[in-house]
Amino acid sequence: MTRTKATEDPARLPLVGDRHVDPHSYPDGIAFLDGQYLPMSQAKVSVLDWGFLHSDATYDTVHVWDGRFFRLDLHLDRFFGGLEKLRMTIPFDREGVAEILHNCVALSGHRAAYVEMLCTRGASPTFSRDPRQAINRFMAFAVQFGSVANAEQLRRGLHVAISDKVRIPPASIDPAIKNYHWLDLVRGLYDAYDRDAETALILDFNGNVAEGPGFNVFCVKDGRLSTPAIGVLPGITRRTVFDLCGEEGLTAEAADISVAALKAADEVFITSTAGGIMPVTRIDGAAIADGKVGPVTSRLMALYWRKHDHPAWSSPVKYP
Ligand SMILES: Cc1ncc(COP(=O)(O)O)c(C=O)c1O
Repeated sequence: MTRTKATEDPARLPLVGDRHVDPHSYPDGIAFLDGQYLPMSQAKVSVLDWGFLHSDATYDTVHVWDGRFFRLDLHLDRFFGGLEKLRMTIPFDREGVAEILHNCVALSGHRAAYVEMLCTRGASPTFSRDPRQAINRFMAFAVQFGSVANAEQLRRGLHVAISDKVRIPPASIDPAIKNYHWLDLVRGLYDAYDRDAETALILDFNGNVAEGPGFNVFCVKDGRLSTPAIGVLPGITRRTVFDLCGEEGLTAEAADISVAALKAADEVFITSTAGGIMPVTRIDGAAIADGKVGPVTSRLMALYWRKHDHPAWSSPVKYP
């Protein structure tokens, strides 16, 4: 009997969205692992790594736009802060990590890239249950830039559902340690899909709005901006919105935001390194204000992208 390998007959490959894809294919990009630069398909970790077994890891993601890193220093600060809090050590200092990130992007050739640095607890050579025996592992990679919102969603605004799932509280995990504890966020995402929305927001432990899978949220009411204060990752894009508001003379504060207040806002947007500032125009099936992308959101979106070639906010990738 002759058997065709699944990969030779495209129709037999798993259907992802509307395409049949090879489950073992990887995005085009370059990873750094164990002192080597590798194609993404060859960058593999042990199943015994605590990063995989226990989500014992921290990471950061910075983007490259038009050949320039955006606010790399802030991402490095957050990453090294997470390492210290988790008592992880890596054999590189800030300059060393920055150089690896530059190399990953340069070798990938991407001019718009999603660039991740990460450290896992690692594995213990003796399968010890003591995390101090594990050998921490630093990795990094650069793939093509990806956004939470696609072009159409950026134009007309995202449709969001508010899930009743509760974000892991800060007393359990300090959200300033950027982490892979995403089961709450992923379950929220499925709640959103079940309700025909495109993405989700989940709640903090008091029932106020917290954040979504990979983004913070802002609302605008009577010209004033606010974003949830507690139980959320202090996002670099969130921080950038505060900085832009400072420059523009807009008032922005971190405060509790109830679900009702979010739905009654004049404008809502989300923020992430994966996409920047992205408008939200429907929540739980109802329009926010007139259902159009608002003027404050549009202004901040334009300013945000304009800063990407400003030397105080961005730095060129060292391509060969
Ligand atoms: C849970 C969570 N909140 C917020 C954000 C946004 O953070 P930043 O603006 O630094 O990308 C992210 C980014 O990955 C995230 O994972």
